[in-house]
Amino acid sequence: MTIESTLPSSWYLDDAIFALEREHIFMREWLCVGREEQLNGPGDHQVLDLYGESILLLRNSEGELRAFYNVCRHRGARLCVAVQDQESSDQLPLRGGVIGGRSIMCPYHAWTYNLDGQLQRMPHVTPQMGLKPEELSLHPVAVECWGGFIFVNLSPETAQPLLPRIAATIDQFQRYPLAELRIGQSIRYEVDANWKVICENYNECYHCGPVHPQLCEVVPAFKQAGGAGLDWERGIPHREGAVTFTASGTTHRRMFPGLNEDEQVRHKGDLVYPNLFISASSDHIAVFILHARDAVHCSIDCHFLFEASEVDKPDFDPSDAVDFWHTVNRQDWSICARVQQGMRSRVHECGIFSPMEDWNLDIRRYVSDRIGPYIPD
Ligand code: FES
Repeated sequence: MTIESTLPSSWYLDDAIFALEREHIFMREWLCVGREEQLNGPGDHQVLDLYGESILLLRNSEGELRAFYNVCRHRGARLCVAVQDQESSDQLPLRGGVIGGRSIMCPYHAWTYNLDGQLQRMPHVTPQMGLKPEELSLHPVAVECWGGFIFVNLSPETAQPLLPRIAATIDQFQRYPLAELRIGQSIRYEVDANWKVICENYNECYHCGPVHPQLCEVVPAFKQAGGAGLDWERGIPHREGAVTFTASGTTHRRMFPGLNEDEQVRHKGDLVYPNLFISASSDHIAVFILHARDAVHCSIDCHFLFEASEVDKPDFDPSDAVDFWHTVNRQDWSICARVQQGMRSRVHECGIFSPMEDWNLDIRRYVSDRIGPYIPD
């Protein structure tokens, strides 16, 4: 049997490798950035920090999602500032940004764009000066949605359509009402690990027995045979009498209508490369949106999705699911940080994938294909 190795340890540590990943993965692939419900109506907007690029995501006058580089076409001023950045900065607040839910005004010389990014106004600039507003729209970012998730692509000139790219995932979750679900609670985690360590951890259950005792109580299959042979297409069975990811394995929430017999008692999961993880139970879905901050740090937004009819109940209480996941998540982030610490050792040149970790060969291939040609010999 062939012994499969991980990527070289340096690929999880080096700023130079992360710079290649930034350029050839995060600047080119579809990235999940949130849920549609987080932007409600015309003029609603967010400022996203994506791998050093500031991106303005908004709903235009028709309520359609649009995204642009947050850069004025005049002299490059940043158009909008994220609320949290303004609060943590000693810069004075300036006029400008998204004005009246109808336009985007640059705070510097008041060039003004509509919500489709077209330049509408250049104060004191006359047609005789030769500037052509139709050539000075904001630099676009591609936006597509699936299942209530918002994806952006920072290279719209080369981006392929999203849906064919994630066809297997769409098929996997076709009976789950993803698009209709609402966020019941969210947790932001900061993890001291390379983004690939987190992907690899999600993609194998060899670690579940040692790291997740509570989870294995509810889903014993995760620890049997070291997590080998798990059928993720059909879903992973809970123990007898358990139907969901809570400490008891049960819940008072109703099951999603339309699930097949397997999905009513099994757990499904998928990793949409490079940054969306979907873990589906019969009554709720936990999603993880990963943002690699640098070679050795990630932020992870974990959203817990429920039916709107549950979230709208006055006594809605998601804590049975959230508390259980919060335990499992912290176990994962702790072990990922330990891996990151260990890989710094001068004696660790690369790791080994056991046969139970075959899914991780996918990650190795995904990353190697994209940055391998740019690695110096
Ligand atoms: Fe934006 Fe001048 S830099 S209007």
